[in-house]
Amino acid sequence: MKKKILSLFVIALCFSNGNAEAQTKSIEGTLLAPTPPMGWMTWNYFADSINEKDLREMADAMVSSGMLKAGYDHLFIDDGWQGGRDNKNNIIADPQKFPSGIKALADYVHSKGLKLGIYSDAAPLTCAGYTASLNFEEQDAKTFASWGVDYLKYDYCGAPDDMEIAKTRYKSIADALRKSGRNIALGICEWGERKPWLWGAQTGGQLWRTTADVRDKWKSLTPVNNRSELHSTGAGILDIVDYSQDYAAYSGPGHWNDMDMLVVGLYGKKGPSGDLGGVGCTDTEYQSQMSLWSILNSPLAATNDVRNMNAETKRILLNDEVIAINQDALGKQAVCRIRNESWSVFVRPLANGDYAIAILNRSEATQNSKINFAELGLNETYEIRDLWEHKVVGKGKKWNGKVKSHETKMFRLKKTK
Ligand code: GLA
Repeated sequence: MKKKILSLFVIALCFSNGNAEAQTKSIEGTLLAPTPPMGWMTWNYFADSINEKDLREMADAMVSSGMLKAGYDHLFIDDGWQGGRDNKNNIIADPQKFPSGIKALADYVHSKGLKLGIYSDAAPLTCAGYTASLNFEEQDAKTFASWGVDYLKYDYCGAPDDMEIAKTRYKSIADALRKSGRNIALGICEWGERKPWLWGAQTGGQLWRTTADVRDKWKSLTPVNNRSELHSTGAGILDIVDYSQDYAAYSGPGHWNDMDMLVVGLYGKKGPSGDLGGVGCTDTEYQSQMSLWSILNSPLAATNDVRNMNAETKRILLNDEVIAINQDALGKQAVCRIRNESWSVFVRPLANGDYAIAILNRSEATQNSKINFAELGLNETYEIRDLWEHKVVGKGKKWNGKVKSHETKMFRLKKTK
């Protein structure tokens, strides 16, 4: 009997890590989102004050600033584009905001070499109170496909708490997208409340948010006792890392833990990421967000004003060596090997046999780091490349150096003799 229970447990374990088997494929049979999706998302900068003129400008700026070339290839429209339904119940765009319609915008975005993302919700209304897709899943998926949409973020405001209902609602939109005749990747957005890493891929999603909405701040000012409290305290960069790092087993090609948007370059802008203490971060902290989102395999959705980026924001968002870690073909999310009050140290293997490591100083003061790579399970001798300095900074079995408060050092280690 005991043996039987044990083998059932082993089978269950295999399945729990077996997201890859159950994934939705593209029409051609390849993976949708083989690497974490990248792009620029409207929400933190514009909230629901979006319109086709601004979005065309953003698309232009994504090309001229080098964002597209660096890999940010989606323009994700978030909440606020909807204008209700027509007399045949087809969902329509707000005619004031999008007088030419979403199809024309999709055509424009595609002509620039970008893909278009759109937004809806698994209830009658979205989080900001606009028309959503419950009971119209097939009709809306067909509409999105006919417009040329490539990605759908599907929110969960106004929907029941129950996990089984959430699974059913996400499966119903995923099935509808599959039937639509177009490849449309699905981003699940229920804030990690119902453990979507356990079922997100099986229901047909390519990614799922792990926490409440990101705020433009380093961390919550009051202690956070559980994930749900992040909705009221506001989730800072460090809070999201702490509440996302344990699900590495569920992340991989076609199925990703989504740590929410990048706040890099927002500098405390008023708006969705500016409330609940979102007064802005230092460039050191923004650099940490980029490093940690990259090593932890999160989708990278910038939300700053791409039309007006300062040199620091460009340096951070366009760091090709850090982006290469995020987009590495092996798709292995880093695991945390050292975690104490002062440090978090993450390690991930890469497709070519190298390792990436990120050393985060959690404390409020500059500290000296003395890391023997063996402590991280890396027992060889390595050439050490600093991915922010863009140069090889040493060779050996350890790294010693200063790390500023809230800074993250990021290295690529290559086995050498
Ligand atoms: C929720 C989501 C956000 C954003 C808003 C839009 O809060 O978590 O990312 O999409 O809704 O209303």
